[in-house]
Amino acid sequence: MDCAKKKQCRLVVFPLPFQGHINPMLQLASILHSRGFLISVIHTHYNCPNPSNYPHFSFHPISDGLSESPHSAPDPVRIIKLINTNCAKPFRQCLEGLISEGDVKCFISDANWYFTHSVATALGLPRIVMRTSSVGAFLAFAALSLLRDKGYLSFSDRDSKMEEAVEEVPPLKVKDMPVLEMYNAEDAYKNIDKMVEETKKASAVIFNTFQELEHPEIGRLTQQLVSPTFAIPFHKCFSAASSSLLAQDMSSISWLDEQPPKSVLYVSFGSVAAMDGGKLHEVAWGLANSGSRFLWAIRPGLVHDTEWLEMLPNGFSEATSGRGIIIKWAPQQEVLSHPSVGGFWTHCGWNSTLESICEGVPMICSPFFGDQLVNARYVSDVWRVGINLHKDLEKGGTENAIRKLMVQRDGEEMRKRAMLLKERIDAGLKMRGSTYRVLDELIDFISSF
Ligand code: UDX
Repeated sequence: MDCAKKKQCRLVVFPLPFQGHINPMLQLASILHSRGFLISVIHTHYNCPNPSNYPHFSFHPISDGLSESPHSAPDPVRIIKLINTNCAKPFRQCLEGLISEGDVKCFISDANWYFTHSVATALGLPRIVMRTSSVGAFLAFAALSLLRDKGYLSFSDRDSKMEEAVEEVPPLKVKDMPVLEMYNAEDAYKNIDKMVEETKKASAVIFNTFQELEHPEIGRLTQQLVSPTFAIPFHKCFSAASSSLLAQDMSSISWLDEQPPKSVLYVSFGSVAAMDGGKLHEVAWGLANSGSRFLWAIRPGLVHDTEWLEMLPNGFSEATSGRGIIIKWAPQQEVLSHPSVGGFWTHCGWNSTLESICEGVPMICSPFFGDQLVNARYVSDVWRVGINLHKDLEKGGTENAIRKLMVQRDGEEMRKRAMLLKERIDAGLKMRGSTYRVLDELIDFISSF
């Protein structure tokens, strides 16, 4: 029965409560809703999405047992572990309630909700996993336990082995291993191992990516997964209402309107990463000394133990007066598609990386942890659309990187390659393009349950 066409089947989605996970899940849900499915969202109170932005979805809060209120530099490893323990029972009760109302076709879980496979199996409901990282990063996570056993994760930053290639996960080097060293390492690796294990048990896995970008990685993935995989760049298929947890400062767009084409470097390090005052100074002096125009989103809490801008170096405002603005949180997709933006200095979270590639914007990569290290390597060495500064910002290195990206020939070459990728993604979105076909296959797959 093709229930999608008859508008009677319900899909239940369960996003992980972090910005970089809520955005892709609600984008995917919006795509599926536009294809005729009814959508129910089960969610935690922690980082609760705003239901009024999605009047056509039904929202079902469950108890998460977290006493803390959301704050701007969370410890994702600890929270993921806690909510996987606390939410199992309330999630099951909520899902049973929805099933008893009828017509639930299947449920789509973030890969990090690793308890959900056993619940879905017990209730006889097909479970599809949505993975928010790139396919390349998933392959690195899947190899992590082997790499750990081989000692790759024990090398320190000072070790001479950091530049060595890791043959199990090309094109990564030892320094690109997706480590989470600032968090509890044992818990981090347990979370990752469970995420990989439970993803492999899903009826299907959906990745927020596109065929042309990760063709070799998708090939390697299909050798590891028995279930079908679907690669769809969500935000390009449906411009969903905002799922932003922080208010986006729209004044940045009017400021961009007044700047020359491709002249502005957009700077943002995502929703979780945090830095110390020394790193903030490197970013600030890089911007000041490069002479570039910039739009800098400094999330409250980005800098440890600060409210907002207290740690900016003295003299920064004077040195950059008239050519840069600082805001708390940007309307990122609009910023990246703005004609005045010529580069993006990013932490390389996967959403940010993909959003930049999709708009043909080259990057400076300052990865902090986990999949960001993997994404940065792909950006610089595989797609060749950015400069990888790695985890540590060398004195003076930031200023040179900004000049290289924004005004020198190397940057121009990267911009051309990024524009080619944008053209390929745009072609895939057209009728009978690759993404269009994959989306049709996904709808057929879900309808076949
Ligand atoms: C986290 C991890 O850091 C990342 O490595 C993983 O891939 C996903 O989860 P996050 O730090 O939130 O991600 O970064 P990212 O994946 O880039 O997602 C951030 C989202 O917030 C993007 O969709 C971006 O458009 C949005 N954003 C970011 C804004 O709307 N405004 C901003 O100012 C900054």
